[in-house]
Amino acid sequence: MFRTKTCGELTIANVGEVVTLAGWVQKSRKMGGMTFLDMRDRYGITQVVFNEEKDAALCEQANKLGREWVIQVEGTVAERSNKNKNISTGEIEIIANKLVVLSASEVPPFTIEDNSDGGDDLRMQYRYLDIRRNPVRQNLELRHKIAFEVRRYLDGQGFLEVETPVLIKSTPEGARDFVVPSRMNPGQFYALPQSPQQFKQLLMVAGIDRYFQIVKCFRDEDLRADRQPEFTQIDCEMSFIEQEDVINMFEGMIKHIFKYVKGVEFDGPFPRMTWHECMRLYGSDKPDMRFGMTFVELKDLTEGRNFPVFDAAKFVVGICAEGCASYTRKQLDGLTDFVKKPQVGAKGLVYVKYEADGSLKSSVDKFYSQDDLKKWAERFNAKPGDLMLILCGEDADKTRKQMNELRLEMGERLGLRDKNKFAPLWVIDFPLFEWNEEDQRFYAMHHPFTSPKLEDVQYLDSDPGRVRANAYDLAMNGVELGGGSIRIHDSALQNKMFELLGFTPEKAMDQFGCLINAFKYGAPPHGGLAFGLDRVVSMLAGLDSIRDCIAFPKNNSGRDVMIDSPSEIDEQQLKELSLEVKVEK
Ligand code: AMO
Repeated sequence: MFRTKTCGELTIANVGEVVTLAGWVQKSRKMGGMTFLDMRDRYGITQVVFNEEKDAALCEQANKLGREWVIQVEGTVAERSNKNKNISTGEIEIIANKLVVLSASEVPPFTIEDNSDGGDDLRMQYRYLDIRRNPVRQNLELRHKIAFEVRRYLDGQGFLEVETPVLIKSTPEGARDFVVPSRMNPGQFYALPQSPQQFKQLLMVAGIDRYFQIVKCFRDEDLRADRQPEFTQIDCEMSFIEQEDVINMFEGMIKHIFKYVKGVEFDGPFPRMTWHECMRLYGSDKPDMRFGMTFVELKDLTEGRNFPVFDAAKFVVGICAEGCASYTRKQLDGLTDFVKKPQVGAKGLVYVKYEADGSLKSSVDKFYSQDDLKKWAERFNAKPGDLMLILCGEDADKTRKQMNELRLEMGERLGLRDKNKFAPLWVIDFPLFEWNEEDQRFYAMHHPFTSPKLEDVQYLDSDPGRVRANAYDLAMNGVELGGGSIRIHDSALQNKMFELLGFTPEKAMDQFGCLINAFKYGAPPHGGLAFGLDRVVSMLAGLDSIRDCIAFPKNNSGRDVMIDSPSEIDEQQLKELSLEVKVEK
């Protein structure tokens, strides 16, 4: 047998046993005639001892080992005199009697320890070494457990996991596609799926009824901490259901994951809020509900006092930071600098301090009396000791988004975004359409297959912006974990949607013909959603970036620096694919 035990399982109960371990040299130290060696595998670290007096040749062999060499050791488990309480094997050591070098190692480019000295780029380039480190491996273990619990839960609910193709057809809605040239069909391209949306709907027409798939999706979009060009969805669809059924089913799945993977149980059903309410109170469709600081609108209270900035603004909004009236000039300047950052984009910040003595002190004292400011404070429900922070702007949506950034920043500064607290929220009643100023047209906010609310169908022609969708997202701690909708299953309504979205019947047929045709043959009412697995794992692991729970992620330029991809392909390959490359300078 190659090994009889792992490096993580021996305890005091094993003392006296002869065992064989295999693993990597974590480190070694020589102390007098003894050599102590830490041996590591996926399961832990075990100390191995070589005694020069007992076996000089064996000890000499051990002294030649370097970090990350792969070895096999046979020896006897003994109680340690110098116990290490920090590791599970800390009470024992192995008195070695045989050592085999299985593989030598060059000096690794960084040390394989929990707090590595390797920078981000280096660790990504040698990701196979990075994964040897506990924090990275533990994230992969967590990912595995979550995927496993997802399958256990959905299998228990009668869902079938069905694989859908990866080489599909390009559709220009949503993000940009990654495309793949076809050798056998010169000049034609496959696209990699942004999601299996159409296929899962086709599976409903096919009678599969309850489908899921843990599936790779691909989107050529700008990357952020919670976005990768290839990521994994827990993609689901159900037939003969209403929105309520979908929400309940997948709320159950999230609760199941938290319970069995993290030991966290939620009290009662997840709260719900309409999209409009979210935007009004938080300026975001994925509000962080771990703390309050909801928005307060003030435009009416600011008027008529000749403060040109507020008078010129169409919208004035504020938040109240409890107990922050003692903020110093420097702290307030810091907040002003924050809102003026290009990523936030506000022009300035107005503050009002509610002093302990009940007086109000603000950056606009010149224009507003104590009585005016008292009225503001009342609207904020502020108490002495609180700090009110106010932004204004031409455009309510934009100003709300800026205030959302400031609210999150304040939450961060005040330590209100505790990673061990989980605040889920179903965001419901999304608008069906989103107006695009640049193109002067409506786009589907979710996707073109999302059904409008029955009571709003009457506004489809007259006031499309008013139509709400049967669409829902699950947000948690300010992250969109997943989202979906009840689909249109009626051809006439689907055609109407395409028309409103500016598709000619020919174009709609060209892009979605398969689904349109399928709907002619008995489409059941259906709907579903998809969660971002990477985001779910990051949430449970408390990670700042989804990259850390992906074995081999891409960097911010969409590159895999380990395998050096994307890369150029040779002339012969291009020729076979009937391609010519012209790179614009
Ligand atoms: P949507 O586009 O909202 O819906 O995606 C569903 C979930 O996938 C995750 N996600 C991402 N995760 C990492 N990197 C990305 N680039 C990325 N893009 C999306 C998010 C998101 O909530 N077909 C529909 C679902 C449906 O209607 O059933 C869809 O793809 O967590």
